[in-house]
Amino acid sequence: MKELAVRISRFDPDKDKAPHLETYTVKVNEGARVLNVLHAIHDEIDPTLSYRYSCSSGQCGSCAVRVNGEPVLACMEEAKDGITIGPLNLDVKKDLVTDLVPRLEQIASLIPKKETVLPKKADIDAMKPLKDCIECLCCVSVCPAVDVTKFLGPTAMRQEMRLVLDPRDSGDRVPDAVRDGLFTCTTCQACWKVCPKEIEIPAKAIEKLRAHANRKGLTLPRHLEVAALIKETGRSVPRTGTTFLEQVGEILEPYRPVKATVGFFIGCMYNMRQVQSALDAMEVLRRNGIRVIIPKEQVCCGSPLIRTGQLAIVDSLKQRNIGTFTTRKIDTVMTMCAGCGSTLKNDYKTPFKVMDINEVLTKFGIEPPARLPIKATYHDPCHLMRGQGIRDQPRELIRQVVDLVEMPSICCGSGGGVRSGNPEEAAALGSRRGEEIKKTGAEIVITSCPFCEFHIMGHTDKPVKNIATVLLEGYWEKDRLSGKK
Ligand code: FES
Repeated sequence: MKELAVRISRFDPDKDKAPHLETYTVKVNEGARVLNVLHAIHDEIDPTLSYRYSCSSGQCGSCAVRVNGEPVLACMEEAKDGITIGPLNLDVKKDLVTDLVPRLEQIASLIPKKETVLPKKADIDAMKPLKDCIECLCCVSVCPAVDVTKFLGPTAMRQEMRLVLDPRDSGDRVPDAVRDGLFTCTTCQACWKVCPKEIEIPAKAIEKLRAHANRKGLTLPRHLEVAALIKETGRSVPRTGTTFLEQVGEILEPYRPVKATVGFFIGCMYNMRQVQSALDAMEVLRRNGIRVIIPKEQVCCGSPLIRTGQLAIVDSLKQRNIGTFTTRKIDTVMTMCAGCGSTLKNDYKTPFKVMDINEVLTKFGIEPPARLPIKATYHDPCHLMRGQGIRDQPRELIRQVVDLVEMPSICCGSGGGVRSGNPEEAAALGSRRGEEIKKTGAEIVITSCPFCEFHIMGHTDKPVKNIATVLLEGYWEKDRLSGKK
């Protein structure tokens, strides 16, 4: 047996104005789950504690709660000392019980065809990645779009796509999905990462539905414009000045002995909008012994097209980009755009290794910069943290140069075509991010994605800087202190 102290959010609508936390100490067996702790409190301390459960084995989805802010199934999550247990971010009826009915009612049901149709094995296989949902609504409770728009949410989209694939269904699911907010999803992947059944909703439902919408002529006009621009210029943003690729040579030799050689995939935003961030990154790499090869014929990775379901020229972009590095016999390609990195790693089949710049710098190590007397906060780009699993490396770099104060990892609203297609939603999410930044009291915001950099700048009065820029400022300060500059 072990003793655990846990905090639980309590709320009785008949007595309380707002939820409050209560602390309980219970004895439970080693390996006890959060649900066992709730049972112990209910049975031994306070029988009025309300929570929901049924199967106790991860099958029914009814026990979903938040532990330390993260949605989990109480019956599957190991109970640890000091945890805080709260309800999902849905309307709370009492304590840990939320009102699931309005959301569950929005999930579409199969409308049988008049004639009898039986799904073939291929249909069943196609539906497989989407059929395991247990309707726990963990995904809905973390979806940023649900908070600021009329989006029905991730699992409603999952069901629409499942029905598209089901030959027994007679519904017109694609227009329904568009009506229900298909294009409001930022593809932040928060839903997939909390799903107890690991259903990859952004790639397997949202992007697939968007591709169906494209075939039906339902793509948003702004997304069509982006696709036309890529087709015409190879880039997803229009030229506004001298590009990164026009300012650098094809090979950048390091200032120190060579530790590694990487090819560099620049991406549209760093090439054409956040150019200085990319130039700063090159300086940091050269100072740290990384040789950088920059093929000039590289083009857009295709992410803006894949995320919005416009797939017609994606394969040709992929072939061109892969060819540009393989003809130079490059075995490691570095990205610094979170979206491009995630696309190259997850949507391409590359014969070379793909590494984000944060991985490169932490793998090969950096010369310590001078510490700057600045309190900074860090915004996790969704396509870096969730798309590539890179959370610790940026922090390891940032802590070498400034003091880091954390804030919740939430989407800033710039991804998935939302900034171009649904600017009001993007602005609402950006404002939310701005509020979180303000709460930290940080003097600057650091991030590692050009879309996030660009978008957050419009929603905070603090300077928004790339990690590379902050490291470079640390090196300048070091040189100044040592009299080199
Ligand atoms: Fe059924 Fe937890 S009680 S999933």
